Amino acid sequence: MLRTGLCGELTEEDIGKKMTLSGWVYTRRDLGGLLFIDLRDRSGVIQLLFTPDDEKLHERAGNLSREDVIQVKGTIIERGEENVNPDLDTGLIELDVDELNVLNEANNLPFSPTDDPEVNENTRLKYRYLDLRREEMRDNFRLRHRTFKVIRDYFDEEGFWEVETPILTKSTPEGARDFLVPSRLHRGKFYALPQSPQLFKQLFMVSGFDRYIQIVKCFRDEDLRADRQPEFTQLDLEMSFAEEEDIISVIEGMVARVFDRVLGEEVGLPLPQMDYQEAMDRYGSDRPDLRFGLELVDVSETVRESNFNIFSGTVGGGGVVKGICLQGGSSYNRSQLDALEDYAKGEGAKGLLWASVKEGQLDGPFTDHLEDEMNRELVEEFSADEGDVVFLVADNREPANSVLGALRLKLARDNDLVSEEGWKFTWVRHFPLFGRDGDGGITSEHHPFTSPTEEAMEKLEERPLEVKSRAYDLVLNGIELGGGSIRIHRRELQKRIFNVLGISPDEAERKFGFFLDALNYGAPPHGGIALGLDRFIMLLAGEDSIRDVIAFPKTGMAQSPLTGAPMEVSQGQLDELGIDVGE
Ligand code: AMO
Repeated sequence: MLRTGLCGELTEEDIGKKMTLSGWVYTRRDLGGLLFIDLRDRSGVIQLLFTPDDEKLHERAGNLSREDVIQVKGTIIERGEENVNPDLDTGLIELDVDELNVLNEANNLPFSPTDDPEVNENTRLKYRYLDLRREEMRDNFRLRHRTFKVIRDYFDEEGFWEVETPILTKSTPEGARDFLVPSRLHRGKFYALPQSPQLFKQLFMVSGFDRYIQIVKCFRDEDLRADRQPEFTQLDLEMSFAEEEDIISVIEGMVARVFDRVLGEEVGLPLPQMDYQEAMDRYGSDRPDLRFGLELVDVSETVRESNFNIFSGTVGGGGVVKGICLQGGSSYNRSQLDALEDYAKGEGAKGLLWASVKEGQLDGPFTDHLEDEMNRELVEEFSADEGDVVFLVADNREPANSVLGALRLKLARDNDLVSEEGWKFTWVRHFPLFGRDGDGGITSEHHPFTSPTEEAMEKLEERPLEVKSRAYDLVLNGIELGGGSIRIHRRELQKRIFNVLGISPDEAERKFGFFLDALNYGAPPHGGIALGLDRFIMLLAGEDSIRDVIAFPKTGMAQSPLTGAPMEVSQGQLDELGIDVGE
């Protein structure tokens, strides 16, 4: 046997036992004769003791290098009092070694998995198997495994079936760019990798599967960020004969179970809910971070009659004047304030006004234009105190909210206002069904299979932007964990939605004909949701990037430093596919 136990699982109960252990040479300390090596396997670390009595063995141990793979045989003994390590689970014991076998030597390493690696992320990703040896990474993947297991067990108990859906498929409607796979057998034709299993899971409902989940890879060719990868993992769910509260409550049960079983923490249910419009108006975001205040204040009515044109003109023209008060913000100097204005402009602001509170009045570059009475009212509305700074924007409601939403996050980050303790969940509900796309056209806020609310049906064609949807998002600590909706299950309504979206019947037939057909054959009312599991695990693990909880992630440029993907392929492969990539 290569081993009779695991390093990290040994305890004082094992004292006196003969053990064979295998693992990696982690650290080494030579205390003038006594040689200590920490041996590591997945379960943890145990100290090995080499005494000078056996000269040969001692010398061979002295020649070991970091990360050599070894097997040792010996006896578990109690550590001498001066050697006890209270930081280590096995800190009271050690293995007194009497046999050493080197199973494989390690070359000089590009970085040591012992420490917090000071190496850049590219090197970590290139040698990911070494990076994954680090304790922090091992813990992240143990947590990932535990979470998946708890989720699967929970849904099994709740009567859900896990069923797989195709990876080589047809374009799906999540709004990102597709990854395409050329077909050899059908030259000039392409499969698309699924952006989500959206249509397949709805088809399962038509099949009568009733309750479906899948932990599934999704693929989206979009700009990457800390919480976005080109391939990521969703917990995908669909339920028949379900309304919003059914889906919300089954997901809340899962969330509470995961927090309990994985972190040993209690989540109070039901989770809070917020209206989409309230989220936008108070936090300037549809994924509000509720770990700090800095709420947006609408002062449009106060300044409507102001002599200051920017205020009265904007409000008179149907816009708003809104702002944020930063406590103690008057410590910002002029160049920092200018930098904040540049930041706001980068987020789409026409300008950013600021004023600090001095002797109960706002005092800043624009305040000369402001009537004294109005000035005092503003101080009151912002509940601003001496030394605070108020930032204001005057614009249409949507850009004003989104600029202040971004500024709110920046001010909170820059001033350490984000509490690292605790979990701030909220559901966001009653989203608009449609929004404007970049070219001024109408687009789905979620996807085109989302049901409008019953009361909004009659204004679908006339005033589509006022129509509310039956969609809901789950937000945790300002990150969108997931989103879903009650779906359209009648073909007639689905056709009307395509029509509003400017998708012609021909185009709808070509893209989604198979799905529209299915709606003709007894589709039950249904709804569902998908949660980004990488994001969920990132938050549970206390990481800032989903790359730290995905085993082999891509860089921000969608490359794999480990494998070198994406790569050129041979001319023969291209010819077979009928692809000419040009120069
Ligand atoms: P949606 O597009 O909102 O909904 O995706 C659901 C959740 O998936 C996660 N997510 C991502 N995670 C990492 N990298 C990405 N590139 C990425 N894109 C999305 C987010 C997001 O909230 N079919 C619908 C769900 C439904 O209606 O049931 C869908 O995919 O956490």
